[in-house]
Amino acid sequence: MTGNRPLGVGLIGCGTIGQVHAASLGQLVEDGEVRAVAAADPSEAARNAASRNALGFESLHEDGRAVIDDAGVEAVVIASPTATHRDLVYAALDAGKPLLCEKPLAPVFPVVREMHDAVVASGLTAQVGFHSRFHYLFDAVQHLVTGGELGAPMGYVLREDQFWPTGEIVPGHSSWRSNRSQAGGGALLEHTIHGADVVSWLFGPARQVFARTRSQFGYDVEDIAAATVEHESGVVGTILTVFNGVRGREERRLEVFFERAAVEMTADFVVGAREDGLMIQRPDEEAERPELDSLRAAHWDRLGVTRKDVWFYLYLAAREWARSIRAAQPASPSFGDALAAHALVEAAYRSAESGAPVTLEGDLAIPGAS
Ligand SMILES: NC(=O)c1ccc[n+]([C@@H]2O[C@H](COP(=O)([O-])OP(=O)(O)OC[C@H]3O[C@@H](n4cnc5c(N)ncnc54)[C@H](O)[C@@H]3O)[C@@H](O)[C@H]2O)c1
Repeated sequence: MTGNRPLGVGLIGCGTIGQVHAASLGQLVEDGEVRAVAAADPSEAARNAASRNALGFESLHEDGRAVIDDAGVEAVVIASPTATHRDLVYAALDAGKPLLCEKPLAPVFPVVREMHDAVVASGLTAQVGFHSRFHYLFDAVQHLVTGGELGAPMGYVLREDQFWPTGEIVPGHSSWRSNRSQAGGGALLEHTIHGADVVSWLFGPARQVFARTRSQFGYDVEDIAAATVEHESGVVGTILTVFNGVRGREERRLEVFFERAAVEMTADFVVGAREDGLMIQRPDEEAERPELDSLRAAHWDRLGVTRKDVWFYLYLAAREWARSIRAAQPASPSFGDALAAHALVEAAYRSAESGAPVTLEGDLAIPGAS
């Protein structure tokens, strides 16, 4: 599309993650990969903060449509609250512009499927904000799963916990996440859609899910959920996700049990976080704990990343996205990947509602899964 020219990017939504996107765009501007053309947010303070992070957007707007309509915007990042994604994605598709949309795609599953189908029909390059896939530790586990050296993966335990992201628990935080009509769900949909993507990426699409949810804090979305998942591949696993009152904490832990190894990985989403860790236990050997800085450096070498000042893995996701568009290639993680993650989460909600296991068939069927 743009060949060697920097890609003209517009950003819609300049809140918490929008400002991280803006900072990543700023670094990509310095790299010569993109131009920060336009940004929109109803909040002036938010769009000004994003503009500072992006080293200055050429224009700032209240309404996201103005970004999409800007002739200089060749591709759009949608980082506004979940319930606004659908209309903005459709507007970008109507304008023929490639996009990156934050997760979750929408509060309810039928809309996710519609969005997926519309994106696929458009043929435009579109990526979803599953930035975990660009974390060197998830990448390391993915290589262990596909490499075969440890035998077949048999099962896993995934735990994701973080502070309740709402203003009553974290003063100053936005509060739409504790409202079902805006967020669609709580810890499972809003946060652990990342985990649902990771386990679908590592072990293939889910076949059946049995789950329980609770709302301990009394909002109309869940703050704790536990799910047992059987994948099409035969791998079985459990997922526990929690929003609680431990302010400042955000941690993901994945344990994978192979035929000939146990692997434990802990990750946070800031580069160099103290929570990060990886342990590989093979038979009759002392556990291996790879040196993390070298592991990260090797991952970034493979991606061709030379910057030393990257602090959020989203930079890697945005960089790959911009490169996919410039090369007129499909982007990853795709809307198809998002459909698989959303279907797993939706099956968990239906199971929690009915008290019975839910099979991913009918409207929950994933293209390509048997
Ligand atoms: N991939 C990730 O790791 C990650 C992390 C955080 C949030 N998210 C997702 O990103 C989205 C935004 O989350 P957030 O934490 O930044 O929320 P936030 O509440 O901090 O910020 C949202 C911003 O969008 C603005 N906004 C509201 N309606 C808008 C509209 N119609 N057009 C443009 N801007 C609008 C608000 O004024 C606010 O500044 C959500 O879907 C969320 O789930 C993803």
